[in-house]
Amino acid sequence: MGKKILLKHDHVSGIQGYEVYRKMGGYTSVERALKNMTPNEVTEEVKKSGLRGRGGAGFPTGLKWSFMAKPKGVKRYLVCNADESEPGTFKDRYLMSRIPHLLIEGMIASSYALGANTAYIYIRGEFFYIARILENAINEAYANGWLGKNILDSNYSLDLFVHTGAGAYICGEETALLESLEGKRGNPRIKPPFPAVKGAWDCPTVVNNVETIAAVVPIINDGGEAYSKVGIGKSTGTKLISASGHINKPGVYEIEMGITVEDFIYSDEYCGGILNGKKLKAVVAGGSSVPILPADLILKTANGKPRLMSYESLADGGFTTGTMLGSGGFIVMDETTSIVKNLWNFTRFYHHESCGQCSPCREGTAWMEKVLHKILDGQGSLTDIDLLWEIQRKIEGNTICPLGEAAAWPVASAIRHFKSEFEEYVKNPSSINDVKHYFEVNKLEMA
Ligand SMILES: Cc1cc2nc3c(=O)[nH]c(=O)nc-3n(C[C@H](O)[C@H](O)[C@H](O)COP(=O)(O)O)c2cc1C
Repeated sequence: MGKKILLKHDHVSGIQGYEVYRKMGGYTSVERALKNMTPNEVTEEVKKSGLRGRGGAGFPTGLKWSFMAKPKGVKRYLVCNADESEPGTFKDRYLMSRIPHLLIEGMIASSYALGANTAYIYIRGEFFYIARILENAINEAYANGWLGKNILDSNYSLDLFVHTGAGAYICGEETALLESLEGKRGNPRIKPPFPAVKGAWDCPTVVNNVETIAAVVPIINDGGEAYSKVGIGKSTGTKLISASGHINKPGVYEIEMGITVEDFIYSDEYCGGILNGKKLKAVVAGGSSVPILPADLILKTANGKPRLMSYESLADGGFTTGTMLGSGGFIVMDETTSIVKNLWNFTRFYHHESCGQCSPCREGTAWMEKVLHKILDGQGSLTDIDLLWEIQRKIEGNTICPLGEAAAWPVASAIRHFKSEFEEYVKNPSSINDVKHYFEVNKLEMA
């Protein structure tokens, strides 16, 4: 059995509630931090652990915390990003609904380290049922003295609020999230200034993903060094992976960083192999935004090394032959999957979710959707493939926030690795077998 740190107790009966959570050792990290450690010492442990942000970018968490500005008399905030709208990613909702107190505990210890006396969990609006679970857990934490004034007589006080969004993918981008939290339209901000200097209500703010904040609990309990020994290289610790698609056992898995992709896909402990004994065609390893890789390149790097579930190994080869660990949304596609259709589906999503602030993203995502639609409608030409390539290039790097890249990379990688499939659809439209049917059953408009 692989190493479990975050989901060690997820199957314990009653773990959602305070009593059982506490019995299983819950809230000891808060006791340890508030009674025996200074805020800086907590940050140092997080630095030592090598923990990297689990929201997608993999930025070192301790380093991010150390950027938090500390002007005198100015409030500081910790905001937990529980938006989780990236297609293929469903780990945070699992963690929050199964072990809500783990997130609350992490929020308290992290807020203490950052000197924040007010903290928010910004949760995607559709997760109203999880917001209730979290609110119940927060009420239990207040009732048991873990939140509120002068926690454990430490002189440290913290109020924690759940704030529901309204279901926009863009509000997962940290500055759009802050705008939304402030009650405004969720448009990303121009950076710098970064949130650590000017965040919520212009005060220094750290925004961290749910899984990142939960990982602070074992780091304080067992020490940063112990955490850093789990995993591989600069990919320390464990990672929650949401596995979906053509696999026998879809679900949320906690893996130790560094296991092979092959083991993850084929072993019974994780995905259990490809559904119906079919062949693997492609994988999107880190949520819809990261480059898709064909079977040969996801199982082995271009220079023949086994591909590992780690930040470095998945990125080996750059975007020519590699990809990203991203948010851990692992989407597996078998030999029957149409890469072009899947890409159209992803692109539709990005077009719908673009906030419209930047022209390259607003217009480019619309054009990419149109061109893909044209190809799938049997009306495409070979120059349309070049046009798609050109449009995605004009989006990348030309937008305020990375939604632009998130929309461009899937297009670029699909053309890079599966160009022949696009060409086949253009040259031989009858090969787009069930496309019309697909549009019909989904009640989607043809262009
Ligand atoms: C369009 C877009 C959507 C995002 N959605 C999420 C999300 O749902 N959850 C998340 O944690 N990070 C998301 N991010 C990344 C955040 O901007 C930010 O990097 C992250 O919350 C930082 O937390 P971490 O350092 O713990 O990873 C998104 C980024 C972009 C550009």
